[in-house]
Amino acid sequence: MTTAAKTKRLERMDDLVSLCARRGFVFPSSEIYGGINGFWDYGPLGAELKQNLKALWWQRVVRERPDVEGIDSAIIAHPRTWEASGHVEHFSDPMVDCRACKKRFRADQLEGVEPCSAREGTSEHDFTDPRNFNLMLQTQIGASEEAASVAYLRAETCQPIFNDFKRVREAARQKIPFGIAQIGKAFRNEINPRNFTFRSREFEQAELEFFCHPSEREKWFEHWQGERLAFHRELGFGDDRLRTRPHAEDELAHYARAAVDVEYLFPFGWQEIEGVHDRGDWDLSRHGEYSGKDLGITDPETKEHYVPMVIETSVGVDRTCLALLVDAYTEEELEGGETRLVMRFPRGLAPIQVAVTPLSKKLAEPAHALEAELRRRFNVFYDDAGNIGRRYRRQDEAGTPFCVTIDFDSAEDGRATVRERDSMAQERLPLEGIAAYLSEQLEAPA
Ligand code: GAP
Repeated sequence: MTTAAKTKRLERMDDLVSLCARRGFVFPSSEIYGGINGFWDYGPLGAELKQNLKALWWQRVVRERPDVEGIDSAIIAHPRTWEASGHVEHFSDPMVDCRACKKRFRADQLEGVEPCSAREGTSEHDFTDPRNFNLMLQTQIGASEEAASVAYLRAETCQPIFNDFKRVREAARQKIPFGIAQIGKAFRNEINPRNFTFRSREFEQAELEFFCHPSEREKWFEHWQGERLAFHRELGFGDDRLRTRPHAEDELAHYARAAVDVEYLFPFGWQEIEGVHDRGDWDLSRHGEYSGKDLGITDPETKEHYVPMVIETSVGVDRTCLALLVDAYTEEELEGGETRLVMRFPRGLAPIQVAVTPLSKKLAEPAHALEAELRRRFNVFYDDAGNIGRRYRRQDEAGTPFCVTIDFDSAEDGRATVRERDSMAQERLPLEGIAAYLSEQLEAPA
């Protein structure tokens, strides 16, 4: 058996970016036109990884909790929504323009920006004074241009949750405390998209808004911090790469009374992947005011009428996918000098769970029969091209936890070789037990 003598984790983002393009995890959107800044497409492996991550979040946050309901709202909400939420007024970043090269930058992120290429005798930019730039993307609704009205692509997925609060609570017969969750696209016209998918203009969020009595807000704020940290640990992020950081008073978003970021250590430093926010009664009070509807609750026992407080957990799906990709990336120097690149995803999140790799094309019939059986339970890749060592390496790069090889003895002894990704250990197992074996292995924590 080959073993790894030395292992190295990801140091340069460029190595990951090129693997992601080559293997079809993530690559620039509209690549044939030169790409479009801040927009990314997920290929076959990336789409599966993202899907698995979202399914795990939905399982933990919605399905396992009797006190949380899931919804799937429209991306475009009534424009008054964004006035009530404060986004039209407050959702902006300070920006500066360089008068010489005409490039635009975030005024609070000028450290390390590329030098000015248009001035003579200096590479320093000639900046304008900072101005506020609203990050919401606008569109128009209506058949004719004159009659069309401005609408916004949602800047966060939670605002429709507040719009739907009364309807969902009544329909689901929920009582305070309870939460409403959804996963979906959000859009921000970021001034400087950067660090691969980390800061994009179109991205996905998975958000939970948990409504509670004012006397319980601190309890639930603590509770959800614990739950969310446990989730990120389940993704395999070790304590050396995961931390929480409370926001200072002057960092708080306009809606937040308190906030704690969950941060991951990327090659470009500690960065936020999730925010847990105490939003107080900001949203329900404002939507109540702007819509003229009473979004308060009357306690059935005490008859107290109050506006519930909101504890929010808001995780970036793309940022967490990026953290998964960074965390999984491992270069191993094998005995004998060969190196292998292996994506050590947690097994349950791997894009492909099992590859069927017959030793010869002549074994297509039994191999396809096994493939068909396994496809009923797993995402399967069938690969009969090239030598077996190379096929294993391709699956290592895709992060596939198991390869099953049918060989010329399989017809005789009814067994196949199952090879595990991280240890590269191989064992021969009876064909009829392989699906059950894989189910057990894939469900076990990695
Ligand atoms: N509803 C609260 C809210 O949207 P946020 O801190 O602005 O809070 C929450 O965003 C999460 O959404 C962030 O922790 C991050 O993971 C993700 N996110 C925000 N802006 C992003 C961007 N431009 N690109 C990718 N992900 C982003």
